[in-house]
Amino acid sequence: MEAPPAPAQTGSAKASNSDLEIRLMRQTLQQAKRLGQGMTDEQVREEFSRYRSDQQDEKGRAEQRREAQVKTVLKRQTDEASAARQDRSERIREHVRAAGLDPTGLSDAELDRYAHEQSTRQADLEARLWRSRKCFGASGCPLLQTENIDAVDSNPRWHEIHDLLARRAGEGYLVALLGSSGTGKTQMAVNVIKLACDAGIACRYVTAMDLFREVRQAATAGREKAASELEVINAWAEVGLIAIDDLHQRSGTDFEQNTLINLLDRRYAAKRSTILIANQTKEAFAAAVGDSIVSRIYETGEAFWCDWPSYRKPGAWRESR
Ligand SMILES: Nc1ncnc2c1ncn2[C@@H]1O[C@H](COP(=O)(O)OP(=O)(O)O)[C@@H](O)[C@H]1O
Ligand SMILES: [Mg+2]
Repeated sequence: MEAPPAPAQTGSAKASNSDLEIRLMRQTLQQAKRLGQGMTDEQVREEFSRYRSDQQDEKGRAEQRREAQVKTVLKRQTDEASAARQDRSERIREHVRAAGLDPTGLSDAELDRYAHEQSTRQADLEARLWRSRKCFGASGCPLLQTENIDAVDSNPRWHEIHDLLARRAGEGYLVALLGSSGTGKTQMAVNVIKLACDAGIACRYVTAMDLFREVRQAATAGREKAASELEVINAWAEVGLIAIDDLHQRSGTDFEQNTLINLLDRRYAAKRSTILIANQTKEAFAAAVGDSIVSRIYETGEAFWCDWPSYRKPGAWRESR
């Protein structure tokens, strides 16, 4: 028996369109303004198929356009990023050159690392500066010498002692600056305190009179209140570096002598540094403070004799007379 002839492909596809499909095709073509008058189903089918293919072409073209737009935007972004990168690298290179270094051959990553290290260092420096300012601001240094901190001359002996005291501020010394008035002893202590603050050491400046007054007040108040003499002495004992100025201006009572010995003993034991200042000769000073303090100075420091001329000059009032 012979097999029935296979139906033609198109014919079968055409035949498979239902009335509903033809209706939808007509409707779609009408909306697209492509439905001619009196079109047969066959013509509708063909026109619809052209319409679909046009649509696909249009879709493809739109996609291509979009793709091209995306590419343009991406390229612009990449160009901008690379220009910014170049700018940044050039700026960092400038910094490297400004630091007296040759940036030739440094990769972008190395330049970035350099910039990062520099900014971290800068932040550290600023934090240290802030802490130092805070420390110095709270040290109680007198205004006159604070304002003159950068105005010191080149007196070699003054600088020699100053540098020694600044360098060893963290070692727990007991030193005395002795000499006549105006030789820059207070100024030296203030400059040393400034540098010690820079090095992160807590510092205080106080005159002997103020110190004894503070302890005496606490001692008196201590009878009624808990804030005792000992607490005040302990607080002073804990500070990394203190300068006790004008030690010659004191009454020399047992109370003052005991306070001084007590405080200096604690500071000695805790390895805190102390600068004692007095407008006195070594002999007068030794007689005033007593053997135990003199021997501590002998052991952990030195009594410096400031024998250069006074820095105090005749003021405008005197000159105008
Ligand atoms: N090395 C110095 N160079 C310039 N001026 C100084 C120096 N040391 C101190 N002075 C100034 O001299 C004046 C007296 O200094 P000061 O420290 O008060 O002396 P002292 O405490 O020995 O009496 C102050 O105005 C101070 O600023
Ligand atoms: Mg002084």
